Amino acid sequence: MSLNYTELLLPRIPQEITDFILAEGNKRDPSTYSVERAPQDSYTDMYEWFALPPEFITWFRANISPNRYFGVQVIKKNLPIHRDYGSNVKFNYLVQAGNTGVETVFYNDDMVENEAIVLEEHKWYILSVQELHNIRGLIDGNYRLGITSRIAKNNRI
Ligand SMILES: [Fe+2]
Repeated sequence: MSLNYTELLLPRIPQEITDFILAEGNKRDPSTYSVERAPQDSYTDMYEWFALPPEFITWFRANISPNRYFGVQVIKKNLPIHRDYGSNVKFNYLVQAGNTGVETVFYNDDMVENEAIVLEEHKWYILSVQELHNIRGLIDGNYRLGITSRIAKNNRI
């Protein structure tokens, strides 16, 4: 059994919302990056994040968790090995995996790989993002789009 991730049997995101994510996410400028990540130069042009309109947030609050913030992440390139800044555990739901075979890889503290998984589109997962991790196999020019939401930050819910 993995200690790094688990699937959750939560509802599929309505098509109206996933259509919005696909339309918005795929037109993102490859040169932009997340403000959250901006101090880390290595993340420029690899990752960004954008907000959902309030009427869509309502669906997540009613069906997934009433008091989380749900945003869209755009991964544009294979990420370097990292721990997420400030987050311990996150919801993850891929709307567009990028291409087949993209792996999410977890490493031990010595950077030795201990688990590689292919997360499926339209499934809810929680990921232990304080473990070292990255993704590999994303073909240049393809974007990986999904919903992300912080479950625990600094060991607090
Ligand atoms: Fe991460």
